[in-house]
Amino acid sequence: MTLKKETSSMELGECTRNPGYQDVDGGGSAADTVTAAVPGEKQDSTAVKLDPDAAEEYTQLKPYAGMPKEVLLLYSSQARYRVSREILFWLTVACTLALVVLTATVIALSPRCLSWWQTSPVYQIYPRSFRDSDGDGVGDLKGIQEQLDHFQYLNIKSVWISPFYRSPMKDFGYDVEDFRDIDPLFGTMEDFEALLAEMHNKGLKLIMDFIPNHTSDRHRWFNLSRTGDPHYKDYYIWVDCNQTVPRPNNWVSVFGNSSWTYDEVRGQCYLHQFLKEQPDLNFRNPNVSKEMIDIIHFWLGKGVDGFRMDAVKHILEAAHLRDEPQVDPNKPPESVTTEWDLYHDYTTSQLGLHDLLRDWRAEMDIYSREPGRYRFMVTESYDYHEVDKTMMYYGTPLVKESDFPFNFYLLDLPQNTSGLWVQHLVHLWMANMPRGQWANWVVGNHDRPRIASSAGQTYIRVINMLLLTLPGTPTTYYGEEIGMENINVTDSQIQDPAGKYNKSASRDPERSPMQWSGDMNAGFNNKTNITWLPVHPEYRSINVEVQKEDESSVLAQYRFLNMLRQSELPLQRGWFCYVHADASVFAFLRELDGLNQAFLMVLNFGIESVITDLSSIRELPDQLKVLMSTNQVSDGKVLQKSRILTEAGEGLVIQYSTHTRFNPNHPGQCYVSEKACYLGALDILYKC
Ligand code: GLC
Ligand code: MG
Repeated sequence: MTLKKETSSMELGECTRNPGYQDVDGGGSAADTVTAAVPGEKQDSTAVKLDPDAAEEYTQLKPYAGMPKEVLLLYSSQARYRVSREILFWLTVACTLALVVLTATVIALSPRCLSWWQTSPVYQIYPRSFRDSDGDGVGDLKGIQEQLDHFQYLNIKSVWISPFYRSPMKDFGYDVEDFRDIDPLFGTMEDFEALLAEMHNKGLKLIMDFIPNHTSDRHRWFNLSRTGDPHYKDYYIWVDCNQTVPRPNNWVSVFGNSSWTYDEVRGQCYLHQFLKEQPDLNFRNPNVSKEMIDIIHFWLGKGVDGFRMDAVKHILEAAHLRDEPQVDPNKPPESVTTEWDLYHDYTTSQLGLHDLLRDWRAEMDIYSREPGRYRFMVTESYDYHEVDKTMMYYGTPLVKESDFPFNFYLLDLPQNTSGLWVQHLVHLWMANMPRGQWANWVVGNHDRPRIASSAGQTYIRVINMLLLTLPGTPTTYYGEEIGMENINVTDSQIQDPAGKYNKSASRDPERSPMQWSGDMNAGFNNKTNITWLPVHPEYRSINVEVQKEDESSVLAQYRFLNMLRQSELPLQRGWFCYVHADASVFAFLRELDGLNQAFLMVLNFGIESVITDLSSIRELPDQLKVLMSTNQVSDGKVLQKSRILTEAGEGLVIQYSTHTRFNPNHPGQCYVSEKACYLGALDILYKC
């Protein structure tokens, strides 16, 4: 490699402003002195040899910016540069590797972060009854928007709003005429978008109702189907039948009487598992599934955060249409008219149902990839004592379905006032839930009598305490946070179609207007004196405004417990262990390995005061301090663990310090969704 004088002098000439170059330049060019390797010698691409004279002169040359490669090489091959370069190189490699290993370890050791639907209770709004902004007597979307501060006050992040689609309101919105439109009674699409934007601004998530089983008989598809349009004719389930006795088989509607109705236009019968104005869709037609998926995309595209999937067990029916077996085989077939008269072997939970739901879940996952934008799915299915059927909605470890199916077992709380009964209901879920899944608890909704009425006001506080301290997501139906009760509805006031079939099945009592204040119409609307259902007569004492001022109110206790639940790791994601149950008391604890603070709940669901002796539980300290009691006077009391006094309907949250965990010694009594341990030194959680 020979350095040509002309070239180098030209290159060096371009660097005349470099002081290092000028220092040694003198009269001649530095390049004159630089000679490449001796010809004939084996050339080494990194080592550049100098003739000794030139080298000596060259050593006086300092590196300078813009020096040609050859000069640079002369320097860079010197040991002091080469060694430090190698050290730097290997250091960089080592640091990168260490970072990769550290990141992988942290990821591998960290338990999954809880998602929004796990950290906050789900609050259900029945939109007709929450807040009426325009004074027409029916609640609306603007009304909801006006009351969003209520959720911030309660620290609730997830809000499920029952249907507000365009609807003839035969089943108050569960009969949908257009899945892509808002009913004018509730507002406009702009109102919806404004509500959603405002909710997102405030960090709230909006869950919508999704109603796949049926549409309204006023839906465009149904009109096209009954007129025999080739594309739509199989969108519903049509069967030849005789106009005079329109019963292709013995199937009955959930609301009573035959689930078949003769349609004069088409001259056939169609199936409806609910009202005759709610014809069942035919999910054996792939076009129907496609339509439903499009609707899911429509709302997820608008930004909704999840769906409550309505009446899912009814989605498919057996194609053979055979009679269902009678519960009482001796009953005359003509008197088989209610849901309870038949075993629903052919109209519920049919094969293929879970495939549909799993497909929908997969569509929702497409929208769930952005951080913090997880789209949540909860399914509604009353399987009563067939708990295995309910658990199937969790999916499998490989194929996801709903995040959880609603757990309705606590709706049965009022059937028996005893701690053992409560433990039994809780255990139904905990013992049957697939490993690693997330629990949830429902004590009321728009279909069931209010718990404050069916269990009694005495128990509403302890029920809220149970709800907010059990593991999993609590669900709160509007008004439960203030202990709202059912209203009495006279025959002439009945609105619910189910109540028109059977008065005792009316769901009006639990749908009365939300009690915001002691003002006109309980603050539900302040423009006119109309409300679609009567306001509860006791609204002057049971309302949000009054209870906000009272530290011992149901509302204040709900709020405190929810704050506690969200700030305390053991309550959020710790172990849940049964400690004691008897005719009155149900006691359990929540603890997290590695954390000294744990919680013991002693809840009296009985009818009298009792003293509970927990002295046999050696993991508990002898003295226990009450953090919160539903009877405010007991707050802060220190109790002996052998003498824990609770009155009927009283619940205690006891926070205690311990170094001894309960769960390792009693694995059969304890459950955890996903194990996590706390490392105090670093204030982090890790998988353990
Ligand atoms: C669900 C709803 C109920 C409705 C029914 C039919 O069970 O909760 O209110 O009547 O589905 O859509
Ligand atoms: Mg169906």
